[in-house]
Order: sequence, then C-alpha cells, then structure tokens
Amino acid sequence: MAGIYIHIPWCRNVCIYCDFHFSVSMRNRLELTDCMVKELKLQESFLDREIIDTIYFGGGTPSVLNDQELSKILSVIFSLFVVSNDVEITLEANPDDLSISYLRDLRKLGVNRLSLGIQSFFDDDLQWMNRRHDKNQAVRCIKDSKKAGFNNINIDLIYGLPTLNSLKWKENLNIAFKNKIQHLSAYHLTLEAKTVYAHKIKMGRMKEPDENKGIEHFEMLMEISHKQGFIQYEISNFCLPGFISRHNTSYWQQKRYLGIGPSANSFNGYSRQWNIRNNTQYIKLIKENTIPCNFENLGVNEKYNEYILTSLRTMWGADVSLIERKFGLEFYDFFIKEAKKLIFSGKLKREGSYFKLTTSGKLFADGIISQLFMVD
Ligand SMILES: C[S@@+](CC[C@H](N)C(=O)[O-])C[C@H]1O[C@@H](n2cnc3c(N)ncnc32)[C@H](O)[C@@H]1O
Repeated sequence: MAGIYIHIPWCRNVCIYCDFHFSVSMRNRLELTDCMVKELKLQESFLDREIIDTIYFGGGTPSVLNDQELSKILSVIFSLFVVSNDVEITLEANPDDLSISYLRDLRKLGVNRLSLGIQSFFDDDLQWMNRRHDKNQAVRCIKDSKKAGFNNINIDLIYGLPTLNSLKWKENLNIAFKNKIQHLSAYHLTLEAKTVYAHKIKMGRMKEPDENKGIEHFEMLMEISHKQGFIQYEISNFCLPGFISRHNTSYWQQKRYLGIGPSANSFNGYSRQWNIRNNTQYIKLIKENTIPCNFENLGVNEKYNEYILTSLRTMWGADVSLIERKFGLEFYDFFIKEAKKLIFSGKLKREGSYFKLTTSGKLFADGIISQLFMVD
C-alpha cells in the first residue's frame, strides 16, 4: 500500500512561527492547480501501480480550495492510480474557512478525515500566532464538522508558547477532549529560522520558547491524554483506539508515497525527491513537462538513520532483528552498544527485539535518537 500527498501552497495570512512552503498571493491559483493535475500525470509510474490507501491534502492551507478544485485533483488521482475501496482521505483545514455547506461538500467528495489547525482555544495565543480565527470559531468548527458527518477528526495544538501557561494548556486539552475529537497532534513550538517569530526575537520584541515550560506541557499532555484513553502512538500524535492516522504512519513505517505540488517530497523505497519551493518556478517547469525536483539515492547509513529516527518516535519502536537483517552485523552491534547505555540511564527499554523510548526518554527524544545515528 502507498500514499499520495498533495501540497496546497497558499495561506490567507502568515502564522509567525511557520516555515512550511506557502504564498499569500493566490493570483496563480487556477494555473497552479492545473499544474498539480499535470504533475500527477507526469508522476503516474512513480509508485509502480501500488495500491493507494491514503490521500492527504496538506499545506499551506488546503481549505482555501473550493470543492470543484479539490474534485478536479481527486478525480485525476482516481483515474490514474489504483485506489483502495477504504482509502483514507485527509484534508487539513483552518477554522475560519469552514462553513457547514463546505464541510458537507468535503464529505460528498469522499474526504473522511479532517485535520483542523486550531493551535489554541485562547484568543491571546491565537493573536500572538497571527491566526485568523478566534476561540469561538475553533470550538464551532469541531461541532460543525461532526454535524456534516465527520467522525474522524484531528486537531492540531501548539504548546510551549510564551503566552501559554500551564493552566491555559490544561484548559486547551480539556476543551479538546470535551469536544470528543478522535485524534490530537500536539507540537512543541519550534523556533524556525527566517520566520516572523525569529525576526521578532532578533529585534528583542519576542521571547524564545522556554524549554522548561515545554517539558512541563509535554508531561501534562502525556498524562491527560492517557487518562482520556488516548494512545500516544508517536511523540506528537495521540488518538483513540482505531484512529491512528494511516497517512502519517506510512511515513514512519517507510512506506512509499508520492508528493505532488511545490515543496512536496516523495519516497519510493530507494530514493527521495523534493519538489522546488517556489510556485512560479513550479508552474514554469511543469509546463515544460519537467518534474521540478531534486533527488537523492539513499545510502545504507542514511537508510539506517532514517529507520532509527522514524521508528523510535513511535510506540512500536525500533526492531533490532530488522536492523540486523536489513543493514547487517556492523549496524546491529553499533545499535546494541549504544542502546545499552540508554537503557542504563532509563531513557530506553527493551521488549523482545523491540527498543522503545521510556516516558523520560520521550522528553529528550531528539538527543537520544541522534546518539543512535551512524555517522560516516
Ligand atoms: C503547516 S501547518 C498547516 C495546517 C493549517 N493550514 C494550519 O495553519 O493550521 C501544519 C501544522 O504544523 C504545526 N506547526 C507548524 N509550524 C510549527 C512550529 N514552528 N512549531 C510548532 N508547530 C508548528 C501547526 O500545528 C500546524 O497546524
């Protein structure tokens, strides 16, 4: 089974922290949508006719597209690829875009999973981020999504913000669970270079994320979501049983996927490719029948490091027998030697051939994982 990711490269405004690729100019929207349709045709053979069981509209902000534009893209996917009968179709949406009639149109198109960019239920946090919606719209869009027939709803929240204290974070989680969502993606605020946030810090007008606050919020997140019956199946992803995101999990389980649109990346088992992060250039190259990407064939070290990075972030962990089988004895010995030190310090645990982060390990996941990387 394989996946298709479509990157919708527009946003209605600039969130101060975000370094994903997007443009606020929608002047070339028709042309670019047609180019994405054409890219699907150019890339038709990338996945070797493997069955598609997940389609994901990410961004940017996919909910800027109307139902005809989304329908155009979906019908080309269904005509070019073999799509599974129970395909998961996710669309990332912003609360300020969602009317009941638009949500009903999405259901009619076959979208069966919504990912709502809520970020916080407090107006001062939302204003700090430069979001367009307010707390009332945040709550209303969850209720409206259910009314329109969605029963697989994710919300994105961000913690560790300078304006967010522990009481507010607890309240954000309470509101989320009270509204009976099925999935929660909660991200620690990351300071990305070249964002408005980074610029404001440089000018002394904003503070950097506070590490200690981030750790406290993460501990609260793990405890409260567990009490609500949510499984932490990846560091930042929590869900009720039966609602694991098929699409995101396929990235963590090294499945193949095709990424369409500016900045999208693709993986076919042995190489990775990245599309250009520029809407105008993307259009120009697609019109010349060129796939606008760079690619890299992955060497054994890169494949091993990627396996460590993706598997250890999940509840399934890294399988040492797979490491031996796929990468050889040298990698097996190296992994066991480093893992022993981490087990001794309480950051890692072993269950049969699987190695998993402990709760205290999850707090320092990035550092721990990089200790297990093979460097040249
Ligand atoms: C690129 S956004 C697109 C989704 C949607 N358009 C929105 O704005 O809500 C995907 C998610 O990544 C998260 N995100 C993006 N940049 C982040 C950052 N610097 N720190 C933490 N989370 C971030 C946000 O939670 C966001 O909902």
